[in-house]
Amino acid sequence: MSSSITNTGASAALKILSHNQYKTPRLLPTSLDPSPLVQFNKWLSGALDPVAAGEEEGTPKVHEPEAMTLGTATKEGVPSSRVVLLKEVDPTGFLFFTNYSSRKSLELAANPNASLAFYWRETSRQVRVVGRAEKLTRAESDAYFQSRPRGSRLGAWASEQSTVIGEHTLEERVKEIEQRFGTDPDGKVDCPENWGGWRIIPDEVEFWSGQPSRLHDRFRYLRNKTPAADGAVWNINRLSP
Ligand SMILES: Cc1cc2nc3c(=O)[nH]c(=O)nc-3n(C[C@H](O)[C@H](O)[C@H](O)COP(=O)(O)O)c2cc1C
Repeated sequence: MSSSITNTGASAALKILSHNQYKTPRLLPTSLDPSPLVQFNKWLSGALDPVAAGEEEGTPKVHEPEAMTLGTATKEGVPSSRVVLLKEVDPTGFLFFTNYSSRKSLELAANPNASLAFYWRETSRQVRVVGRAEKLTRAESDAYFQSRPRGSRLGAWASEQSTVIGEHTLEERVKEIEQRFGTDPDGKVDCPENWGGWRIIPDEVEFWSGQPSRLHDRFRYLRNKTPAADGAVWNINRLSP
C-alpha cells in the first residue's frame, strides 16, 4: 500500500493516513560483521551496486546513499540537524567536509557529541550512528579539497557558510574570488583555513531493516568501554522494533 495524504489546501494542517508496508531481506545475526564499519560498508556497497555486492536479485540501487543527516548540539544541549555527504568510511569512522566556521562546525567544536542517520528509501534500510567528532588533519583536508572540481573549490572561498548575507553578496564574492584565482582552469586554488573535514568516530551504530507489520529487524552495536574477555570491541544486541 502506498502513502495517502489528506490536505485541505493552503493550510498548516496535513495528515499522512497510511504508509508502505516494508519488505526487505531479513537482517540476521549470522550475517552481521563483528565491526559496524565493515557492516556499514557492506550495506553501502549494496546500495551503490546491488548486483556486484551480491544483494538479493531485484534489489534496487539507492539514490544518493551517501546523504546523511548530521545531528549536533550546542554546549547547552540545543540540537540542530542538516544533511551532509559522506565522503569516506575509514577504519575509525565516517568522514564529511564542510566550512569550519559554519553552525555545525562551531557546535562540534564546542560539543563533539554528534549523530548521523542514513535512510535508504529504495531498500527500506536505516543506519543510525552516535559518536564523537574530530577534525581531520590539514593534510587530509587539503588532499580532499584538491580533488574537488574547481568551481566547488572557488565556492568554498566565496561562502561564509551559515552567516546572514545580503541579496547580491554571494554573487559579488564569487566574482571577487574568480578574479583573485584567475581563469586558468588548472590554476591552483588552496584550501581555505576555515574549510575541512570531520570524522565521526562511532560509539553506537544501529542497522534497521524494514519488515512487514512493523516487525522490523534492528541490531545495535555498542563499543565496549572495557575490553571484553573474548577481545571483542563491539557488543551486538537485537532491539525490539
Ligand atoms: C543532499 C545534500 C548534501 C549536502 N552536503 C553537504 C556537505 O557535504 N557539506 C556541507 O557543508 N553542507 C552540505 N549540505 C548543506 C547542509 O545541509 C547545510 O545547509 C549547510 O552545511 C549549513 O549547515 P549549518 O548552518 O548547520 O552548518 C548538503 C545539503 C543537502 C541537501
